[in-house]
Amino acid sequence: MRPYDLTNNYPVTAGQDSALRAALAEVCRGAMPGSLWPAAGDAAHRRAIAGLLGEERELALVSDGMAGMGLALSLAQAAAQTQTGRAGVALEEFSFPLARRVLALAPLHALAMDGEGPLPAALEALMRQPDAPGVLYLMPRIHNPLGFSYSPARRAALAEIIRHHDLWVVEDAAYAFLDSGPGLAPLLPERVLVAWSLAKPFSLALQLGALGYPAALAEAVEEAILLRGLTGNPVMAAALAHMAESGAAAALIAEKRAEGLARRALAADILGAPEGPAWHLWLPRPAGESALAFQARWRAAGLLLPLPTDFHHTGAETPFFRLSLGGEPDRARLSEALTRLKAGSGGTLSPQRGPGGGAP
Ligand SMILES: Cc1ncc(COP(=O)(O)O)c(C=O)c1O
Repeated sequence: MRPYDLTNNYPVTAGQDSALRAALAEVCRGAMPGSLWPAAGDAAHRRAIAGLLGEERELALVSDGMAGMGLALSLAQAAAQTQTGRAGVALEEFSFPLARRVLALAPLHALAMDGEGPLPAALEALMRQPDAPGVLYLMPRIHNPLGFSYSPARRAALAEIIRHHDLWVVEDAAYAFLDSGPGLAPLLPERVLVAWSLAKPFSLALQLGALGYPAALAEAVEEAILLRGLTGNPVMAAALAHMAESGAAAALIAEKRAEGLARRALAADILGAPEGPAWHLWLPRPAGESALAFQARWRAAGLLLPLPTDFHHTGAETPFFRLSLGGEPDRARLSEALTRLKAGSGGTLSPQRGPGGGAP
């Protein structure tokens, strides 16, 4: 029997392929966009896509989401090094596994969190250390793996500390399209770089990413994209800009939000999980069983789950795991998988918001 995929976290909906196909057909009817200048993308495409994402500052297009994140981190580190002499990076204690690997070469610090976001006191304490960081890599909207967005009070408290210490921020907004609230950029427009995914809200087939940045970095961004060969594909950029202008892209986002809510309602029914906008949940797992043994046990029972230790900043054992509701395109199969998960968990699944508790 084909195993159930509770690992893959790309939210895909039925209308996605037809929306992209229609936009590409429109692009192909006109003159083929072929200019690689400016390196950060055609100005009209960038404006259309920025409007779609709600990015109010400059937006550059790059060759995919990970390229955008890597670029944002190196630009932020360079700016921090120049301004403060500190290029080290701090990330949340639970974070996106690939970011942790991208950052493996930098001096890394971790920020303790609760159910509202990173703890301001933990950041203050870090900034008193002799090797205090110059850059924070954060996920204020629909955190991966925790699935929540920072509270407004926490965003404001963190922004004050960030400003006080001249920190630079890379905001990973991969899942921000699922949450209509603001991130950190509106509070700190001059020191936040936003790495947007265009794969999750629109399509992996675009093979595009986007970077929101302060106007003061415009030349550095253009130069870095040019020198690293990270220019986004202009045909795909034209197709996405077309989807933005026709309203198809906004409709797709609405469809993905609605599908996510329906999947969470299913998880609420079967697991007793709270409802919410994220397509993933952070759940407790039995104490005393290693992450590897946990993953292998569920694999043998027909469920594919990500390795829990991948989300901890040091790769340490953690009594939680991430459940993705987007891996199975068919909701009926998702329902079967969740029922199997519930049955095999002996009633120990009580979903939570913070890493170690906190109100759901
Ligand atoms: C938090 C986070 N950031 C960035 C990315 C990478 O971006 P993209 O979706 O464009 O590949 C992912 C992909 O899974 C992610 O989960």
